[in-house]
Amino acid sequence: MKISIFGLGYVGAVSLACLARDGHAVVGVDIDEAKLELIRNGRTPVVEEGMVALMQEVAASGRVLVTQDAARAVRDTDISLICVGTPSASNGAQDQSALVRLAHDLGRGARGKDTSHVFVFRSTMVPGTVEDILTPILERESGKASGTDFHVAFQPEFLREGSSIRDYDKPPFTIVGASSDVPVQVLRQLFGHLPGEFISTSIRTAETVKYTCNNFHALKITFANETARLCNALGVDPFAVMDLVCRDRQLNISPAYLRPGFAYGGSCLPKDLRATMHLARTHDVELPLHAAISLSNRVHVERAIGKVLDTGKRRIGMIGLSFKTGTDDLRESPLVQLAEHFLGKGLELLVYDPEVHLSRLLGANRRFIEQHVPHIGALIRHDLAEVVAASELLVLGLRDRDTVASLRNLTRDDHVLVDLVDIPDRAGMRGDYIGLCW
Ligand SMILES: NC(=O)c1ccc[n+]([C@@H]2O[C@H](COP(=O)([O-])OP(=O)(O)OC[C@H]3O[C@@H](n4cnc5c(N)ncnc54)[C@H](O)[C@@H]3O)[C@@H](O)[C@H]2O)c1
Repeated sequence: MKISIFGLGYVGAVSLACLARDGHAVVGVDIDEAKLELIRNGRTPVVEEGMVALMQEVAASGRVLVTQDAARAVRDTDISLICVGTPSASNGAQDQSALVRLAHDLGRGARGKDTSHVFVFRSTMVPGTVEDILTPILERESGKASGTDFHVAFQPEFLREGSSIRDYDKPPFTIVGASSDVPVQVLRQLFGHLPGEFISTSIRTAETVKYTCNNFHALKITFANETARLCNALGVDPFAVMDLVCRDRQLNISPAYLRPGFAYGGSCLPKDLRATMHLARTHDVELPLHAAISLSNRVHVERAIGKVLDTGKRRIGMIGLSFKTGTDDLRESPLVQLAEHFLGKGLELLVYDPEVHLSRLLGANRRFIEQHVPHIGALIRHDLAEVVAASELLVLGLRDRDTVASLRNLTRDDHVLVDLVDIPDRAGMRGDYIGLCW
């Protein structure tokens, strides 16, 4: 395949070297003549393990050309990988000036071309950039239509500096964001042999995944470092702690707890986080990331309250009250917080939770209701139909399949359904649907 690569920094130079190594004819484009000269002479423009030898090898192969002429590079190739820098502007916004300038040149290149072309954006860019900013420039400058005369895709790059050739050859997965099948097939030809799953999705999803991955990595590093600071103060070995934490592949290093939904609560997470913060304070250890967790959780609860209040409905039915589906534990349940807020606002409230029947509740949970929220205890009904019939708005706070199945028969067209937990199989349910996570 004839490939042009725009921006010969870490991402572009490594891609150029690896694609040429794999037998492709590659045209490298950069505005920095010094980088082009290095590549012409078989030298690497970036310091990366293995790049010195690989650049020598591919320069000698005759499969690598470099130029500053972007339009010509488009005309002479079938597919372009765009890897120019997207640094921070002084206000934290993404500086897209290099991308935007380049898009004009790419469009002009496509104007003079008889055959179709695939533009693959690999620079990290804020969601919406490809479809809202770059594609319109390409269409204007080329006088052609995206999706027919040329194609665009976003393929996030997951290589890490320091191990970029190894990462190129063994990515965690290959994600292609595209709005048609053509660029997906072309990229499957180019990268489908790599280990890791090949996944196609929408362009915006792919753009967002890249940010989410980087944010998650930053979060992990900071979490480990904060944990180490606390361990240090306690005289505990942070490496032993984090090593054991990571060995749990069921709850810790796994998809568990990573599904968007409602706020956390219950008898463990809130109190243990509070105790951790207290412990840190008594040892003069700052844990800003840990401190932000409960703040963020509160924002999530407030958002749910806002969604309900914004509807203006006054007769509320809460389906679910315990802190998660399948338990009767009400301690620090965010749904109890919601219920108290609604009562405080003078709304009419009834509650149904298949696990929370006052007559059946024992021990700590019964005491909790009697001592802390007796007013809510009085609003709990055993009959789902009664709660649904009396309500204008239903807050769906549990994922219990039997309850959801019953709701399908009980909901009315005039109901508003506020779904906090992404209930399963909601097809067939009547009423206006408002999702918390949508
Ligand atoms: N560095 C990484 O490890 C890494 C990993 C994944 C994704 N990314 C993303 O990939 C993109 C590139 O990162 P990088 O570290 O390789 O950047 P870089 O700064 O090392 O290189 C960018 C190159 O683009 C060139 N350039 C600028 N304008 C150009 C134009 N109009 N035409 C051609 N070339 C032009 C620059 O001269 C420079 O050589 C960024 O969006 C970055 O966020 C980087």
